[in-house]
Amino acid sequence: MLIKNIKELIQVREAGIRFLSGSEMKTLPTIEDAYLVIKEGKIDSYGEMKDCPSDYDGEIIDATGKMILPTWCDSHTHIVYAGNREGEFVDRINGKTYKEIADNGGGILNSAKKLQTTSEEDLYEQSRKRLEEVIQMGTGAVEIKSGYGLTKDAELKMLRVIKKLNAEYDIPIKATFLGAHAVPKEYKDDKAGYLNMLINDVLPDIATQNLADYIDIFCETGYFTVEDTVLIMTAGKAYGLTPKIHVNQFTTIGGVKAGVQHDALSVDHLEVMNQEDIDVLKGTDTMPVALPSCSYFLSIPYTPAREMIDSGLPLALATDYNPGSTPSGNMNFVVSTACIKMKMTPEEAINGATINGAYAMGLEEEVGSVTIGKRANFMITEAVNSYGFLPYSFGRDHIEAVYLDGKKQIFNF
Ligand code: NIG
Ligand code: FE
Repeated sequence: MLIKNIKELIQVREAGIRFLSGSEMKTLPTIEDAYLVIKEGKIDSYGEMKDCPSDYDGEIIDATGKMILPTWCDSHTHIVYAGNREGEFVDRINGKTYKEIADNGGGILNSAKKLQTTSEEDLYEQSRKRLEEVIQMGTGAVEIKSGYGLTKDAELKMLRVIKKLNAEYDIPIKATFLGAHAVPKEYKDDKAGYLNMLINDVLPDIATQNLADYIDIFCETGYFTVEDTVLIMTAGKAYGLTPKIHVNQFTTIGGVKAGVQHDALSVDHLEVMNQEDIDVLKGTDTMPVALPSCSYFLSIPYTPAREMIDSGLPLALATDYNPGSTPSGNMNFVVSTACIKMKMTPEEAINGATINGAYAMGLEEEVGSVTIGKRANFMITEAVNSYGFLPYSFGRDHIEAVYLDGKKQIFNF
């Protein structure tokens, strides 16, 4: 397939870039008046229109006035869940806090109760609709977590659903085991017993059945301590799972440092950051990940992106799509919100949502930029004046078509 007359081909990079840090994030390389050739699902060549192959024998698309970007890389989601929690949404409008709701058996435990009694087929059906929805909105690589099961059976059920989604759809999916998302009621007074069960009973089965790439834990006051986090990260690594952790959402208790020390691929949330948290991330391979839609929905602080990037850190952007804190998988909104509320420039936000997001799920060699040999996962915009218009005109996307492995994605809702 040849796409010609592209107004601007965005995020054009040589191979070999792992991620962008600090001032590197300000640059977004593009080619104006460009062409792009896709062969066998991969990016085969690109360049200026003046060098466009004239004798191309295959499908030709004319993209006059339109831009092409690599699809969004959403490195943090909980797309597999059962039912919704709009009751808690109204409770919060009426003055209850997220914590008060969770302390009264709502929150994660509420979702777990629903998921435990939902059949695997039904869970797959609910989840695939969300996956199709986010693909239509431009997401072309995604990480999905367990963590709403909280029993061995229900956690494995979630991970099997993720595996099936990965098999059925063109989008690359990474799976994360988040058994340590909350302490279930049955273990209310025995958190150590719950962690022990996850480590000695669930993890071995996950490894044998090859059900996860990463291990996660909610390291937070009232959930799991830094000690618990070290225990889970160490256990996961023994089974070949790299840590990616929830940390610093409400309080800073030292989890970022622990994550870095245990080679976490990413540390996610980071709404509350102190100087030490920023300093320990410098020069490491651990990607900080911000989730601005979560801050928006819960009215909590936004990750201090300016401070972090200006200190030289990289930053990735993801949705956190889940029923409790972020019932939205819209990466276009994430990119806008990062610009509007976190003072990231459009270039920084697009880098955060593509190449850095790809790194945060180990997919930097496959997706995240227009690079020869990478998967042909890209979106064609409507006719727009500049790429800055995308985050500027918040609340809707301007995507005309999404391609994964060079195949146009069309779903009937
Ligand atoms: O990433 N913070 C922990 N977990 C999820 C939300 C949990 C929920 O409320 O269901 C998150 O925000
Ligand atoms: Fe999350």
